[in-house]
Amino acid sequence: MYKFIVFTHVLSAILSIGPFFVLFPLLNRMKLQNRELLDSHLEVFQAAIRIVKHAGHVLVVSGILLMWQGNWPWSTSWVIMTIVVMVSSIVFLARAFKPNIRLFRDEKIDLNTLVLKLRRSVWLYILLLLIMLWFMVAKPNLW
Ligand code: HEM
Repeated sequence: MYKFIVFTHVLSAILSIGPFFVLFPLLNRMKLQNRELLDSHLEVFQAAIRIVKHAGHVLVVSGILLMWQGNWPWSTSWVIMTIVVMVSSIVFLARAFKPNIRLFRDEKIDLNTLVLKLRRSVWLYILLLLIMLWFMVAKPNLW
């Protein structure tokens, strides 16, 4: 059973990071296309973020089950650090994507600014996920 939970946990980690890499070629194309294609690209962008959000929920639930089933204490430093980074990335994810797409749709920012902001957010989010991945895999004793 424990192995199955670890498998689910790792699978949801893959689904939390993977979709973001699809977004780079999409961001490049967004600059070139007409309004109609742009709208469909924005929809793909939002769908990818939705997958990441659902996978993130599975990641947290399976993580909690692992803590319980594996008798890991909640005071474990690499777990605390992962949770700290995760909470900040959730706050960040909520602010980074949807509000900027809305600003663009309301014509408050132009397309170049939108693409720039989205690209920066995608990189930052990948970086945060890689930091969490490192804490989980290396399990460093920080204190
Ligand atoms: C609430 C947050 C989380 C909790 C409580 C949690 C808990 C755990 C625990 C206890 C293990 C150890 C399983 C074992 O080795 O027996 C583990 C493994 C793992 N976690 Fe998490 N996790 C969380 C979030 C994350 C996140 C955000 C990621 C990825 C970005 C992640 C990726 C992994 C991976 C890849 C492993 C397997 C590492 C290995 O076996 O060497 N986890 N997690």
